[in-house]
Amino acid sequence: MRKPTPAAARRAIVHPLAVRATHWINAFAMTCMVMSGWAIYNASPLFGFRFPAWATVGGWLGGSIAWHFAAMWLLCANALLYLGYGLATRHFRRHFLPLSARAALRDAGLALRLRLPHRPGAYNAVQRLMYVAVLLLGVLVVASGLAIWKPVQLWWLAGLFGGFDTARRVHFLAMAGIVGFVAVHLALVVAVPSTLLPMFTGRARRGHHGEAEA
Ligand code: HEM
Repeated sequence: MRKPTPAAARRAIVHPLAVRATHWINAFAMTCMVMSGWAIYNASPLFGFRFPAWATVGGWLGGSIAWHFAAMWLLCANALLYLGYGLATRHFRRHFLPLSARAALRDAGLALRLRLPHRPGAYNAVQRLMYVAVLLLGVLVVASGLAIWKPVQLWWLAGLFGGFDTARRVHFLAMAGIVGFVAVHLALVVAVPSTLLPMFTGRARRGHHGEAEA
């Protein structure tokens, strides 16, 4: 087998194409889902506030529902590809496990003191916990969404949530959790901007001892 040139060895793939493609499709579909969802919420608010019109898409209730369902197919098809890839290639096991609350607290402390080293392609304990949490929130938001979309046909699913009204609240809270994740996720990208380009190109520079450099 031919040895990689020093230059090639120093720019290794840290994010496979399947992860990058599904990540950016997911970011687009999620944005459409959240903004159209906020417009649908505004038509009959659950709580004592409405979302500003500039933060919504669809223009009117029918338009926003059309956006919500169109993006739903994209989001779900893309999520199935990502989950299938992650399980078949052991991507999740290799990059998201092990999970430990103690390691997450330690890494959160280091991050707050700006002393957490970053190696592209190797997620710290806070990232791993957040990625697994957002995947579970994704499952919850889709399941509760299906329950309020088809509460008669999927009566058993609506029943699992305790009925239509509770499923609607769960759907809202899962959305809020995902939006909270995205806020922290983007703040981390701003804190370590060198993580962004490899999420497009897939490649990052590695150090002399095989460690990727942030
Ligand atoms: C414009 C918005 C977004 C930007 C700029 C962004 C950026 C990034 C970057 C740079 C990474 C790699 C982090 C690293 O190497 O340390 C990443 C990974 C990840 N992001 Fe995002 N992201 C965005 C939206 C989202 C959204 C909406 C979600 C889910 C709701 C999400 C979920 C994830 C997950 C699960 C990973 C890990 C992927 C894997 O390795 O399987 N991101 N993101």
